[in-house]
Amino acid sequence: MSQVEKIAPPRHIAIIMDGNGRWARKRGLPRTAGHKAGAEAFRRTANYCRTLGVEYLTVYAFSTENWRRSEEEVGGIMKLLAAYLKEALRDMQKNHVRFRFFGDLSRLSPDLQKLCLEAQERSSKFDEVQVNFCLNYGGRDEIVRAVRRFAADVAAGKADASALTEDVFSNYLDSAGVPDPELVIRPSGELRTSNFLPWQTVYSEFVYMNVLWPDFSPADLDSAIEEFHRRNRRFGGV
Ligand code: FPP
Repeated sequence: MSQVEKIAPPRHIAIIMDGNGRWARKRGLPRTAGHKAGAEAFRRTANYCRTLGVEYLTVYAFSTENWRRSEEEVGGIMKLLAAYLKEALRDMQKNHVRFRFFGDLSRLSPDLQKLCLEAQERSSKFDEVQVNFCLNYGGRDEIVRAVRRFAADVAAGKADASALTEDVFSNYLDSAGVPDPELVIRPSGELRTSNFLPWQTVYSEFVYMNVLWPDFSPADLDSAIEEFHRRNRRFGGV
């Protein structure tokens, strides 16, 4: 048993799965091969999170900005997601993973939307580990969509603008009901947050790592968790 397994892991870990393209280029492979290896790294990491007892794992799988990539690359990522969700639906009774989706799913293909809804509905009864896929997700877009929903409730007399609090507003976000991540990991050496969970990460610890996402291993997760525990989290207090 490693040192990390003895201390409680964070309840909620969020990951920006970055570096797939560079991983592929280093090997002279097409970018889609990097995403395929990235999907494998996700499987590995999700399994390991379950072993450690992490309750929520949120991953940035496709951003609102990623549509600017080539049709081939976007199509490749969507195919990997569909394949993964089909596999997850097939193995659902064995794995007991609960799925949620953050982002504006309306721009995804009808088939992929259907898979997302099916995975979300059929897994809602499980309570071991929850994977939140951020798909066509942008943090600012999430906040704008939440404001629209809130404004519609105010117009319909179902909400009171003067009584709005942070807690009430949180319930209009895609992440409603999910505790904020304590730890955000960004592999690949980039030091940005890239529109990932801006509302939810105001008190999160950020760990940036030099490994490319397809190479990310359980040992890397252990070292991110160790770094998390070394930090003194004060939430603005003393
Ligand atoms: C960022 O790396 C990664 C993405 C935009 C896509 C992430 C998607 C996956 C890991 C596959 C999704 C499927 C499952 C099942 C999780 P990048 O391409 O920007 O890397 P680069 O900065 O090196 O070019």
